[in-house]
Amino acid sequence: MRKSILIVDDEPKVLQAIHRMLKGMEGKWLIALAESGAQALQMMALQPFDVVISDLVMPGMDGAQLLTEVMQRYPQCTRIILCWNADQPHLSRLYGIAHQYLFKPCDASTLETMLSSLFSRTEVLKDQKVKKVIAQVKSIPSLPTLYLDLQREMQSENASLDTAAEIVSRDPGMTSKLLQLVNSAYFGLARKITSPNEAVLYLGVETIKSIVLSLQLFSYFDRSRIQACNMALLWEHCWTTGVLAKRLCSAESRDTQMADQSFTGGLLHDIGKMVLAANLPELYRASSLMALHKGLSAAEAERITFGCDHAEVGGYLLGLWALPDPIVDAVTYHHCPAWSTASGFSPVTAVHVANSLRQNRQANAPRESQADLDYLASLGLLDRYAEWQEICWGQSSVPATDEACCL
Ligand SMILES: [Fe+2]
Ligand SMILES: [Fe+2]
Repeated sequence: MRKSILIVDDEPKVLQAIHRMLKGMEGKWLIALAESGAQALQMMALQPFDVVISDLVMPGMDGAQLLTEVMQRYPQCTRIILCWNADQPHLSRLYGIAHQYLFKPCDASTLETMLSSLFSRTEVLKDQKVKKVIAQVKSIPSLPTLYLDLQREMQSENASLDTAAEIVSRDPGMTSKLLQLVNSAYFGLARKITSPNEAVLYLGVETIKSIVLSLQLFSYFDRSRIQACNMALLWEHCWTTGVLAKRLCSAESRDTQMADQSFTGGLLHDIGKMVLAANLPELYRASSLMALHKGLSAAEAERITFGCDHAEVGGYLLGLWALPDPIVDAVTYHHCPAWSTASGFSPVTAVHVANSLRQNRQANAPRESQADLDYLASLGLLDRYAEWQEICWGQSSVPATDEACCL
């Protein structure tokens, strides 16, 4: 079925310009235009849209109000805000409302790439089951603005590490948590990092971006006071998995981008658990109890309860945010790496093995904690497994936990 896109802007010139940009795609996408929030809602009542792209500043109902309405009435619709650079200070109020941001003036290829990648990501979902679950979810966070600011700075022509550090230091709470984490013995740095400048210089912007993203997401879900999930343990598990995944990757390859993607994938791999636990707490609790009583893995019980598991939900969310495909795959396939199409050692391998090794340290290790040895054998990497265990646990000691992350 053709994907449908609704573009909302009170300036007819902007609407026409975007329409012209997407003209070549009209064979595969249905494109509709609205000049106000009210008109957009009328159109959405008559036919479903897959994506709404709305201007932020409009008379009457502005973009934030429109997307809030869309989120409540049509939660499965992807929400993108269109704004000027100068609107950046207002973006924080869109947190949780817009899935992505598009900055004016945007060119045809940026828009087409964004939409194509969004559709290809959401298309791969099996049987639309994740979409059905996501449709029941009321609270999906947006990409945090601090992360977006860092991303935009590094993509700009005059990208500067000093400015990246200055962006981080605008948030003192974030800065202190960041410094605490990178200076933890487990992170394994040879020297103490005392400022955002040093952190950016020494660790690189990608590592800092990943830590900022995961800290902000955990704090977002922490505010929703998830009862069905022990957030402190889940954070510890995800942080450790990220660090181990990066370590494994660095041992296998000199590809620093892949190491960064493995780190990010590890940090975010169980984010789907928080989405499910925060939005569907009763079902999530029932699923966890089923796993416990029937001896199933968490993912198996979730598939019975929801029709999909937390890895697919997490991958869907990261796909909505247009994070790079290797990160989305690492999250989506962290329990079933053989389902991924990646060949050779990849972030999928790193996150799968790191997650398994971390879970194996739990006193009552859950069933999914065994690494998929057939998958490793198919990559010709089975003989590396013993060394990976040494790499992970030989460099520093991580205390074993005796509780499951999500009860
Ligand atoms: Fe998981
Ligand atoms: Fe995990």
